Amino acid sequence: MMKYPIYLDYNATCPLDERVLKAMLPYFSEHFGNPASRSHLFGWKAQEAIDIAREQVAELIHANPKEIVFTSGATESNNLALKGLFEHFSPEKNHIITLPTEHKAILDVCLHLEKLGAEITLLQPDSSGMISPEAVEKAIRPNTFLISIMYANNEIGTIQDIAKIGALAKKHNVLFHTDATQAVGKVSVDVREENIDLLSMSGHKLYGPKGIGVLYVNAKSDAKNLVAQMDGGRHQRGFRSGTLNVPLIVGLGKACEIAQFELKKVAKQTENLRNQLEQGILQHVAGTSINGHIEKRLPNVSNISFEGLDGERLLDSFKEIAVSSGSACTSASIEPSHVLKSIGLSDELAQASIRFSVGKYTTQSDIDFTIHYVKEIVESLKL
Ligand SMILES: Cc1ncc(COP(=O)(O)O)c(C=O)c1O
Repeated sequence: MMKYPIYLDYNATCPLDERVLKAMLPYFSEHFGNPASRSHLFGWKAQEAIDIAREQVAELIHANPKEIVFTSGATESNNLALKGLFEHFSPEKNHIITLPTEHKAILDVCLHLEKLGAEITLLQPDSSGMISPEAVEKAIRPNTFLISIMYANNEIGTIQDIAKIGALAKKHNVLFHTDATQAVGKVSVDVREENIDLLSMSGHKLYGPKGIGVLYVNAKSDAKNLVAQMDGGRHQRGFRSGTLNVPLIVGLGKACEIAQFELKKVAKQTENLRNQLEQGILQHVAGTSINGHIEKRLPNVSNISFEGLDGERLLDSFKEIAVSSGSACTSASIEPSHVLKSIGLSDELAQASIRFSVGKYTTQSDIDFTIHYVKEIVESLKL
């Protein structure tokens, strides 16, 4: 039995893996202790669970468990990285290099920091969303303290040349932060090999719970000097005060363990379904084109433009599939995606673009249905 609407918005969020839920449940009830309670069994039990989760997260990204700082999500991790480092380095060093295709959780932090005296360089990516490491290197100045470039784009899936950017950041003694929210769990990420100093990730993008994320902070670099943005009980070695949310952390840990185990299988499976969906739509629907890099791209996402169609009507008409326009929806109007505009699409074409993102629970019949459904809807709109 097929359930409608069919969920094709895994880049927005994923359903919780049942094994994750099962791991979390005892920590809401039986094992309710506060890991900061050092003097009794309740606290020890909670601390033990946190230690295991830290190891599970660290293993997935090849970090050391003590470099894992739990936050409320990638938004907080990005805020902590950029604001925390700016506070440490300014006023001597105040320059950040980033991209206009970043998530708002980077761009809006940069706008905030600009008001406090930061200088921000937004490098222009090419039409596939890629930035060349050479362009990044050229933008480095004596007052640059940070390069912040996302691992993989949430709307178009383009994967940046992270290892090369990491190497040149190291060569120039500049810190390198990557928002890897969409990459971790979908492609292999190695903070050591790729010379990443700080990395943001989020639980709900890898079949874990919402409201929990991580900032990886390289203990061997200057990243460790970032200034905490939350003052209080000096939890997590002072990086982020606040009682640890044990059930969510346990869930995130379990999600990372599963992701590590299943990564290759899920990547292959989603890529196969994504390719079928993409080719089916391109073949059957005239005026369609793909946005983003064709090869260097997340395996699960396809962003497709439907030329000549009204984007708002298109999205409204897709009642039986849950997809996204990749645009910020406000009550009054749909703003064209800043990512698509940054890679050169007109407002009209950006608005007439749809992000399809599949996941490990997407089935073959979901894809077969969607190809025919999209064709039918587009034809009806063209009448
Ligand atoms: C690239 C990227 N960064 C940051 C975020 C924000 O993550 P969170 O929901 O954990 O705050 C998202 C989620 O949409 C994302 O895709």
